[in-house]
Amino acid sequence: MTDRFVVRPSGPLHGTVRAGGAKNSALKLMAACLLAEGRHVLTGVPHIVDVDIMSEVLVAIGARVERLPDAHGEPGDLLIDTPAQLVPEAPYELVDKMRASVVVLGPLLARTGEARVSLPGGDDFGNRPIDIHLLGLSHLGAAFTTEHGYVVGHVPGGPAARLVGSRVVFEYPSHTATDNVLMAAVLAKGTTVIENAAREPEVLDLARFLTSMGARIRGAGTSHIEVDGVEALTPAQHRVIPDRVVAATFLAAAGLAGGDVVVEDARADHMDMLLHKLGAMGIEVAQGPEGLRVVAEGRPHSVDVATLPYPGVATDYKPFVVTLLSIADGVGIVSENLFEGRFRYVDELRRMGADIRTEGHHAVVRGVPRLSGAPVRAPDLRGGAALVLAGMVADGETVVAGAHHVDRGYQDLDKKLRALGADVVRA
Ligand code: EPU
Repeated sequence: MTDRFVVRPSGPLHGTVRAGGAKNSALKLMAACLLAEGRHVLTGVPHIVDVDIMSEVLVAIGARVERLPDAHGEPGDLLIDTPAQLVPEAPYELVDKMRASVVVLGPLLARTGEARVSLPGGDDFGNRPIDIHLLGLSHLGAAFTTEHGYVVGHVPGGPAARLVGSRVVFEYPSHTATDNVLMAAVLAKGTTVIENAAREPEVLDLARFLTSMGARIRGAGTSHIEVDGVEALTPAQHRVIPDRVVAATFLAAAGLAGGDVVVEDARADHMDMLLHKLGAMGIEVAQGPEGLRVVAEGRPHSVDVATLPYPGVATDYKPFVVTLLSIADGVGIVSENLFEGRFRYVDELRRMGADIRTEGHHAVVRGVPRLSGAPVRAPDLRGGAALVLAGMVADGETVVAGAHHVDRGYQDLDKKLRALGADVVRA
């Protein structure tokens, strides 16, 4: 497949689309399969590059990963067969491609008492350490050293030693650190309490899967999670929740181009704050029996938006919000509170005529009536998708290079937008 999207202006969008399974749930559910020997089945796992990379991580660890045939146009099930003996290592080549690979750390320590995981480097969002993961896991008894670019963890006390439940207080409600400690705690001796836990719907989805494997978890989805460790878990079957960020992409597309679109599988209760902001922009979104329906007409109104951990407005939605604001009526201020340097797509939007000034963690966006098509480069996954949307409201042709970033988290973005009436192709 080519590495570019070619986008031309679109009229109002109409029709129905599916978000598909959530990337940031599927990746953790896949890692969780390492916790029990046997055959697990995950349903609704999207066909995206990050899932392929996580499959490679699991294969390197010794699991067998197989896509079962698709039925009724649904994304296929993923069969993960976990052996009794694991190779407790996530190699550099794979972690380097996807930092979410670090979520195998908790399961490996819990299952084998040891783990060698390549340390993720810097990425497009700036410096993203894993200190909260390591501190959390060390409260459960793991000891860590850094050797040759790898974080090497072990549970002291010999081959049969287990992690021990404890009270873990997170300095910040890190999403993947919560996943890692939760997955470690389910097989630890005794009770673990996680305070200031991340509350994302994907954490709750992981907890539900772990519960169906036999784990004993209370409070997932809140900032206080309690886990009573068990000796062993059994394989299970689970359906991945819908991807709220992909759903938001289609809501934003309709907000930009106008129209009447239903995102069939989206869940309003996973996106409350965003829907509130979209409403304030004049983009009406309502949950009906057919799914989440968005109706929009004319330019959006400007609003101020600050990203915060869930249930705040997710940082992942921000490129779509900035793109909406770039053609909105008025001035909006967007503040990033999670990642440093997550404004790189803004330079590209500026090349398309957007009037955006960034100052540290803030962007001041003065809406212009229309953007102007240009060659641009996707800096990362969500920024790339936002540039595709920007092209729909830009005069002339927009060529978005670096489509591989978008493939990490979107299955057939161009096809799905085309089905709604947009003029987006891979060429
Ligand atoms: N942080 C630390 N130390 C840590 C962990 C995090 O300082 O040990 C800092 C980070 O540097 C960042 C902030 O805490 O500034 C937030 O990080 P968090 O750990 O919550 O994010 P994450 O778990 O690494 C997940 C998603 C991201 C999403 C964020 C926020 C996955 C695989 N990734 O990242 O999604 O933006 O939560 O909700 O679940 C994506 O899908 O492309 C993506 C980046």
